[in-house]
Amino acid sequence: MQVIQTDSLVIGAGLAGSTYALQAAKDGCRVELLSLGGPLEANSDWAQGGIIYDITPGPQQLAHDILDASDGTANPAAIDQLVREGPSAVKDLLIDELSIGFDRDGAGRLDLGREGGHSARRIIHAKDTTGHAILEAVARRVDSTAGITRRTGFVAIDLLTLSHNSDNSRDRYEPLTCFGCYALDTATGATVAYVAKKTILATGGLGRIFLHTTNQPGSVGHGVAMAYRVGARMIDLEYVQFHPTVFYQRGAQPFLITEALRGEGAILVDGQGRRFMDAAHPRGSLAPRDIVARTIKLHLAATGDPCVYLDLSALKPDFIRERFPGIYERCLAHGVDITREPIPVVPAAHFSCGGVHTNLAGRTNVRHLNAIGETACTGLHGANRLASTSLLECLVSARATAQADAEEMRSGEFRLPTPSPWQSPDHEPDPLLIRQDLLQIQHTMWNYAGIIRSPRRLARARRILLELREGIQAFYRDCRLTRELIELRNAVQTALLIVYAASLNPVNKGCHYLVEED
Ligand code: SIN
Repeated sequence: MQVIQTDSLVIGAGLAGSTYALQAAKDGCRVELLSLGGPLEANSDWAQGGIIYDITPGPQQLAHDILDASDGTANPAAIDQLVREGPSAVKDLLIDELSIGFDRDGAGRLDLGREGGHSARRIIHAKDTTGHAILEAVARRVDSTAGITRRTGFVAIDLLTLSHNSDNSRDRYEPLTCFGCYALDTATGATVAYVAKKTILATGGLGRIFLHTTNQPGSVGHGVAMAYRVGARMIDLEYVQFHPTVFYQRGAQPFLITEALRGEGAILVDGQGRRFMDAAHPRGSLAPRDIVARTIKLHLAATGDPCVYLDLSALKPDFIRERFPGIYERCLAHGVDITREPIPVVPAAHFSCGGVHTNLAGRTNVRHLNAIGETACTGLHGANRLASTSLLECLVSARATAQADAEEMRSGEFRLPTPSPWQSPDHEPDPLLIRQDLLQIQHTMWNYAGIIRSPRRLARARRILLELREGIQAFYRDCRLTRELIELRNAVQTALLIVYAASLNPVNKGCHYLVEED
C-alpha cells in the first residue's frame, strides 16, 4: 500500500477545501487536496445567487437577519465571526487577489442583490453563476500554487485514528486523534494511506440522500459519516434546508432557480395565479427559506397540484436575459421562455445546517481532525440558514482553520504512525443492488424525513434504514471497494444520523417541522 505523508490533508475541493489549501500553502504548509471529481465538480460551482459582501450600514443588521432567519437559534459567536471577518475574506481573496468579475453598475460600483430573509441589498454576484465564477478562479490559483498537490479521482474511505489504526496497541489509550485517511484511487482500484498532521473534512453537503436535491452527485455527507465513525460530535443534523424553487418538469433533471429572482421582484403563485405566500409571512415570497419551502409543500398537498410557479411578469425581458442568462437558457432548453411565462417550481433538499461540530477555528472533538464549510457546524445557521451565507462561510471557516493549523504546526508535535495495509476482498459488488439501496434511502428520506415529518414517519424511516445499513455493511465487508459502495455506506449512515436527530427533537423550529399523526 502506498503511504503519502503531508502536513494538511484536505478531503474535498469545493470552495472551503480549496480556500483552506490556498491559505495553508501561503502559511508554509504542504497540502494534499483530495477529490473524486475535477476542480469544478462541487456544490460551490452550482451556487447561483451570490455572496454577501456589502454590509452597510454595519454588521449588526446582517447579524440580526442571520439570527432572525434561524428563528433565534443560531450561535451568536459564529454570527459575529462571519459578519466581522466575511467582508475582508471576500475582498482579500476574491476581489483584490483574484479579481473576479462580479457584476457592476454603470458607475462601476458592485451591483448588490437581495434574497429571502435579507432586509437589505448586500449580495454581490456574477450574473446567475456566481459559484462557478468564484470556484473557477480559486481552482486556477490552487493549481498554480507551490505546496498544494491536487489529487482527483480519490474517495476517502475511512479516517485514520491512533485508537483504530496505529501500529502501537497502547495508542488506544490516547485521546481520540486523527492522522489522515485511507482513500480509494478510483483509476487503479488501489487503496492509498494519506498520513497527515491535520485532516480537514470539506466534503460539502448531503442533499443526495434525498430523492430531489440541488446538490451534485455524490453529495451524501461523506465527511459527516466518516467523522461519526471515529467518534466526532454531530450537531443540528435535523435541520436540512430545502430550497423553495427548483425547476419542475416531469422527466426533466431538476435544477436550482435562484432566490435572487425573488429578490428582483419575482413572485410565487399557484396554478390559479394566487399569491399564496402573502398570507404566510409579512415578507411574502421573500420570507426565510424554511417558511417558503414548507408553505409550498402544504399548498401543494392542499391543491393536489404537482408544482407552483415563479411569476416574473414584474421583470423586464431584457433584464431577465442580462441578469439571469443561465436560468433563461436552461429553462428555454426545456421549452419554458421565462420572459413570457412563469417557471414551474418545487422545493428540493439544498443545504445541511448541521454537521460535524466545530469551534470557530474548525476544531472537532477529535484531535487534529477539522471540518469546514457545509460539512461543519459552528451553529452559524441554527435551525435555518440565511441565503447567500454559504460561500461566505466557506471562505471564513477555511481561512480561520488554515491559519490556526499553520500556527499549531510551527510549535506542536504530531505522531504519525504507519497505518496497517488495507485488506479488501476481490468479490465484485453488484451495481444493481447498490443503485436500488441508494434509491431506497432517497425515497425514505424524502417521504419520511423531508420537509414535513411526524414521529411515526421518522420511526418507519429508522426501521428501514437500520435494516438497510445491516445489509450494506455486509456488502461492504464482502466486496471489492468501489466509489459507489463507499458512497452507499456513507449515505445510509448520514441518513440515520439525520433521522436520529429529528426523532430526538420534539420542537418545531426552522427546517425541522413535525406534524401530529391522524
Ligand atoms: C440561491 O441562489 O437561491 C441559492 C443561494 C444559497 O443557497 O445561498
